Formats: sequence, structure tokens, C-alpha cells
Amino acid sequence: MSGCLEIMYERLAAFLLENLVFDDVSVILEAGCGGGQLTIPFVKGVSKIKKNFKVIAFDISAGPYEGDLEILNERIRKERLEALVFSVKGDVRDMKEMACESVDLIISNELLCDLDKKGLGKAIQEFYRILRRGGMMAHGELNPIPENARALKPSRSDKNKQAAIENSAGIPCITWASLIWSKVISLT
Ligand SMILES: C[S@@+](CC[C@H](N)C(=O)[O-])C[C@H]1O[C@@H](n2cnc3c(N)ncnc32)[C@H](O)[C@@H]1O
Repeated sequence: MSGCLEIMYERLAAFLLENLVFDDVSVILEAGCGGGQLTIPFVKGVSKIKKNFKVIAFDISAGPYEGDLEILNERIRKERLEALVFSVKGDVRDMKEMACESVDLIISNELLCDLDKKGLGKAIQEFYRILRRGGMMAHGELNPIPENARALKPSRSDKNKQAAIENSAGIPCITWASLIWSKVISLT
């Protein structure tokens, strides 16, 4: 993974740690974990604030993503996180590997955009089935349009805001948007 991507995933993990409450969380499911780009920094971050927890890293690991779970498993071994992360190969549209109300928190990044409308409906139903009452979900998608450009009416100060969110090459920064939360945060 390139340095830039590593920084992005570290920031995303930090964002989740800052915005979620982990007091009553012991079982976390990361849906569509891929090769563990987010999983590893997230697990490392959670392990700094609590001891008794586990992360189920769930992925279909097929088609263009075939082999990703092996990459994740290798990373888990390398980082010595075997006691905290357990990979499961499965389909979020039919999570038969997961019992009802067995998870306290579900996170995902760049998963929902991989599903069609019907698949998205099934996955959300499954998330609610496996999530315990009072559990939490946070799903992220990268958005190429910065929050300010989308949310604000044009005004004189917009030029300054736009300048602040563009890099020196004039390329808009990537923002991370949660479909469930109303928050949008700039990652660059
Ligand atoms: C764009 S990748 C994102 C990977 C990782 N979450 C990240 O942020 O880098 C999408 C991931 O979702 C997984 N995925 C897609 N459809 C899935 C499904 N129906 N069930 C489980 N995982 C799925 C893919 O295998 C892939 O690893």
C-alpha cells in the first residue's frame, strides 16, 4: 500500500475512534474488509483504548477481490493481531455465518458502492439482523466532491474555503462521507 493510502486509512481509523463510543463494544464486524487496509490501523487504535474486544473481518473475497482475505491474514500474522482479528469469508447480502444480534458495532468502507440496489437492501437488512439492540453502524464512502463544494451556497468566502480544501495542484481533496451519519470529514 502506498504511503498516501496508508495515511488515508490511518486517518479514517482515527475518525472512527474519535466518533464512536467503545464502552459497550466487544464484538465489531468490519464488512467488506478487503485486504485489511482499514482493519489493521483500526484494530491497533481500538486496542489502545480497550482490551476485551474482537473484530470479525468479513469479505466475499471473490472476483476482482479474490485473494484479499489471504492478504489480510498475512497482515494479521505480521502485526501479531491473531487474538483480536478473525477473518470470515462470506456475502453481506446473506450473512449465514453470523448469528442474530451477535455484534455491537458494524463498520465498512467502500463496500456499499460495490452493491446494487437490491444487494444494498439485503445487506442493510442483514446488518440490522446481526446487530444487537442499541448497536452502532458506520459506513463510509470516498467522495471526490469536498463537503464545502456540495453543502454551501456560493458566497464570497467560498473562494477561501475552496482554496483551503484544494491542494497546490488545484485538485479537490477527497472527503470521507458516512451514509449513516450526517458528518463529512476531509481526509487530506
Ligand atoms: C472497494 S473494496 C474496499 C475494501 C476496504 N474496505 C477498503 O476500504 O479498502 C470493496 C470490498 O468489499 C467486498 N465486497 C463486495 N461485495 C461484497 C459482498 N457482497 N459481501 C462481502 N464483501 C463484499 C470486496 O470483496 C472488497 O474487498
